[in-house]
Amino acid sequence: MSRFSYVNGRFLRHADASVSIDDRGFLFGDAIYEVWSVRSGTLLDAAGHFARLQRSLGELKIDLPLSLAALRLVIRELLRRNRVRDGLVYLEISRGAARRDHAFPPAGTPPTLVLTCKRIDFDAAGKRAETGIGIISVPDQRWGRCDIKTVNLLPNVLAKQAAREAGAFEAWLVDQAGLVTEGASSNAWILTQDGVLVTRPADHSILHGITRATVMRLAKAEGYAVEERGFSLEEAQSAREAFITSATTFVTPVVRIDDRPVGNGAPGSLAAHLRQAYLEAH
Ligand code: PDD
Repeated sequence: MSRFSYVNGRFLRHADASVSIDDRGFLFGDAIYEVWSVRSGTLLDAAGHFARLQRSLGELKIDLPLSLAALRLVIRELLRRNRVRDGLVYLEISRGAARRDHAFPPAGTPPTLVLTCKRIDFDAAGKRAETGIGIISVPDQRWGRCDIKTVNLLPNVLAKQAAREAGAFEAWLVDQAGLVTEGASSNAWILTQDGVLVTRPADHSILHGITRATVMRLAKAEGYAVEERGFSLEEAQSAREAFITSATTFVTPVVRIDDRPVGNGAPGSLAAHLRQAYLEAH
């Protein structure tokens, strides 16, 4: 079956879909992106991801090249054409294609919009939640506006590759004060020995994860204490539990950080509970 993608108003065979070599996303990383999970044909946390998309564009002064209502229809059609009911949707919008100049291109240069989707076997991915994942730590070498979901992901790419080479699933990025900011593509959480959920505040140093926000709301609604503050690797290694959140991993327990077990080295029960609660909330 052919795979279809969407580029600037047209559905194209994925293999034929392309953008200009003058595209500013390619030349400068002058682009934002968004990722939605799709389960049983439904976009998870759809409103939150659309709101963040608009915020990212606003921060970079890039116009959304179509209405949100039209974008929702395009995504639905993309999923239909690709027969994807469980998977993810990837969106990227750049400042468009123009003769290379660092400053913004002439007013009226149309942004580039690309949408792709792919299937994910969430049952297989769920096995990871049963066994838990290993984490390595690396220095956070990113810029000062990690709250904007830009495609400037080179430090994240290098961190993830280092994790893979170390046999770990994710890398936690550590700031100059020795505190964990977030994962290469996920937010980082611990449950302290006192039963407090801790995650870094949503300031400029992390991506404001949509899954993070939903999990926080669910946890608070169930009466769990949540503290938004930084935590060190040492605190995480001696925590009762640790886990990550993201659109594609939901809530996934961490059982090892830099070769030291977290808690008793087995996935934590609160992480499992919050994963279930997150999936049932949709
Ligand atoms: N990554 N932090 C970073 C750096 C991320 O890239 C992501 C998501 C998150 C979690 O955000 P959310 O819960 O909204 O997915 C946190 C996506 C999945 C990606 O890059 O593929």
